[in-house]
Amino acid sequence: MHAGADFTVTDSRRYKMGKLTDRVAIITGGANGIGRATAIRFAKEGAKVIVWDVQKAMGLEVVALLKEMGLPAVFREVDICNTASVKSAAEEVVKEFGQIDILINNAGIVRDASLLKMTEEQFDLVLDVNLKGAFNCTKAVAPYMVARGYGRIVQSSSIVAHYGNFGQTNYVAAKAGVVGMTKVWARELGRKGITVNAVSPGFIATDMIAGIPESIVKSMSEKIPLNRAGTADEVANVYLFLASDEASYVNGAVINVDGGSVI
Ligand SMILES: NC(=O)c1ccc[n+]([C@@H]2O[C@H](COP(=O)([O-])OP(=O)(O)OC[C@H]3O[C@@H](n4cnc5c(N)ncnc54)[C@H](O)[C@@H]3O)[C@@H](O)[C@H]2O)c1
Repeated sequence: MHAGADFTVTDSRRYKMGKLTDRVAIITGGANGIGRATAIRFAKEGAKVIVWDVQKAMGLEVVALLKEMGLPAVFREVDICNTASVKSAAEEVVKEFGQIDILINNAGIVRDASLLKMTEEQFDLVLDVNLKGAFNCTKAVAPYMVARGYGRIVQSSSIVAHYGNFGQTNYVAAKAGVVGMTKVWARELGRKGITVNAVSPGFIATDMIAGIPESIVKSMSEKIPLNRAGTADEVANVYLFLASDEASYVNGAVINVDGGSVI
């Protein structure tokens, strides 16, 4: 049943062979970057994909693309900082699809500034989205997973959580917090049939790093053992593994997807 899918065939019946066949997966931040790549990858593996994002036009575009391929997908405009909106969006998913199997806590933002220049607003906003957003989504979704005795929760940290980064007090605090929450929830929810893991991406070519000058991108890439930035698909591949049954005995892990940046 979980033999490899044939990606050259866009017939939806063929995707029934996928690693996530009939799984219901919520992907936060699925309108762009890593989340978008994940939505497409998961749908091709047979999942029913629900994209939660604040970027409506881009979210609808992802869903339209999937529907063209005959794959089920839904977009909901959800700000993960808004506790009430997240809760009702989770209720809506269960009403429509009957269950939630997978939550990918992927949405994130940066507001970089050195400590001496960082404003309280910049600090609070990044903590709100990257840390509390993951808390809100997990809190809203976990009861449904507990009730069925099955769930896969995958979070997005960052390698900077492990070594710090100039200008990222807020982001590093949030991403280190994500690692902490991953370990707590892995302990609390493991006995309920739910695994909780995280990925720590390194330098990944998405809009998040699009503003970085080319010369700096080049010098950062040269420091990576694989000598290049990663792609959104390369992170989506690891989300997929952790969300699939192949990762059934992986719990509380934090997997670097960084081309060897942190060894
Ligand atoms: N790109 C990198 O180099 C890198 C490195 C390490 C970690 N990450 C992490 O990977 C994740 C994905 O990043 P990306 O590079 O794809 O970024 P991205 O900017 O391309 O995508 C992030 C998505 O999150 C959405 N989002 C932002 N705030 C939201 C909110 N309040 N509610 C709902 N959705 C919201 C955005 O609209 C966007 O679609 C983030 O958590 C990021 O911190 C990225």
